[in-house]
Amino acid sequence: MKKQVGIEALAIAVPRRYVDIEDLARARGVDPAKFTAGLGAKEMAVADPGEDSVSLAATAASRLIQRNGVDPSRVGMLVVGTETGVDHSKAVASHVQGLLKLPRTMRTFDTQHACYGGTAGLMAATEWIASGAAAGRSAIVVCSDIARYGLNTAGEPTQGGGAVALLVSEQPDLLALDIGLNGVCSMDVYDFWRPLGRREAVVDGHYSISCYLDALSGAYRGWRERALAHEVVRWGDSLPGEQLARILYHVPFCKMARKAHTQLRLCDLEDAPGGQDSTPAAREDAAKSQASYEAQVASSLGLNARIGNVYTASMYLALAGLLHGEGSALAGKRVGLLSYGSGCVAEFYSGVVGEGAARRMAQTDVEEVLAKRERVSVEEYERIMRLASDAPDQLTPAPGEFRLAEIREHRRIYAAG
Ligand code: HMG
Repeated sequence: MKKQVGIEALAIAVPRRYVDIEDLARARGVDPAKFTAGLGAKEMAVADPGEDSVSLAATAASRLIQRNGVDPSRVGMLVVGTETGVDHSKAVASHVQGLLKLPRTMRTFDTQHACYGGTAGLMAATEWIASGAAAGRSAIVVCSDIARYGLNTAGEPTQGGGAVALLVSEQPDLLALDIGLNGVCSMDVYDFWRPLGRREAVVDGHYSISCYLDALSGAYRGWRERALAHEVVRWGDSLPGEQLARILYHVPFCKMARKAHTQLRLCDLEDAPGGQDSTPAAREDAAKSQASYEAQVASSLGLNARIGNVYTASMYLALAGLLHGEGSALAGKRVGLLSYGSGCVAEFYSGVVGEGAARRMAQTDVEEVLAKRERVSVEEYERIMRLASDAPDQLTPAPGEFRLAEIREHRRIYAAG
């Protein structure tokens, strides 16, 4: 039997504060419906300087290990996917290793390509295990980021922050990946970037949406070609994309998942045998199907709407939200996943939800993690945004959580709760 490799368990960490998106809209003199209906947002995580990519990654990884009884001596690789690292040289992964007192015998490194960095880490870990080089060991891949555009910018309502830690192994209780079917599309574009030394991203917002959709089309068509060849999907009464139980997208804001789904359906409708017999307008209408969006996409967006963009972790937050709600109903079913990173690269892959998904998700305490958060006013959010990145408040972290405490002689020092 072919070796099964994929995601065994996951855990999430979020900043302890959030702002209500309607409060933000009113403070900016914008109709709240633009942010709720127009972007699909409800709440937005607000990270303070003590909650950086290291502290969120360490908190998520610590939860993953504790709640799933992971034996660290069986972990041979620790990867952090991030585009908001804290040092040009020292890896976030090495901080996490030290904070969690993990063994010296594991590879530690970071992966970066905007929001795609987490998927790059997941694929490196999966292929390492599938190749046999891991010799039965597991990997931990943490996606951790703070999405920050700045006050009074068009990107402001699409900020957020958090981390998702994934245990990758030969026991994929959450998702067994279809290794070898992945489709990729990469292009050299300036749609979103963050020059060295800047805290805020620079973005050409509307162009970034078109780059995402263009790259999605290439990645999905690449996956579909292999999936058809392996008879995982087929041209028939339903479109190939409709044969996936759910499709998860990179979610910079929830409405983007709807646009992405329309684009994916358009690829199928254009390429279907006889598809060119219909008019472009008829195909666009069919691509926008509300029923298809409700059936395949909507149920994965609950956490994203309450946290905002988490760059590398966004799609994995959608996976957490989906399996938290539907883990047992989806057991044995195939889902598609579209990861996108600006700059840009998109990768479409698929996997089968494991029989142990509901049991594993019960250990992640998603509700509890969100319930502990504190709603802050727009004034408080603005105060936090103006704090210097190297001057965190001296707060004691909650048990099992980590915070940046101070920076001494350019060394970052973390406190553990
Ligand atoms: P904007 O220009 O202020 O908004 O910024 P808009 O005018 O495009 O309106 C947004 C939506 O609200 C539109 O819906 C409006 O019609 C609707 P759409 O036509 O797109 O379906 N709207 C309303 N709806 C109801 N009632 C109203 C109302 N008014 C308007 N009253 C933009 C939007 C997303 C461009 C901005 O927030 C931005 O720049 N965000 C950051 C960039 C981004 O998220 N890009 C996404 C693709 S790139 C990506 O995903 C990668 C990324 O995650 C980074 C990485 O890879 O590292 C960003």
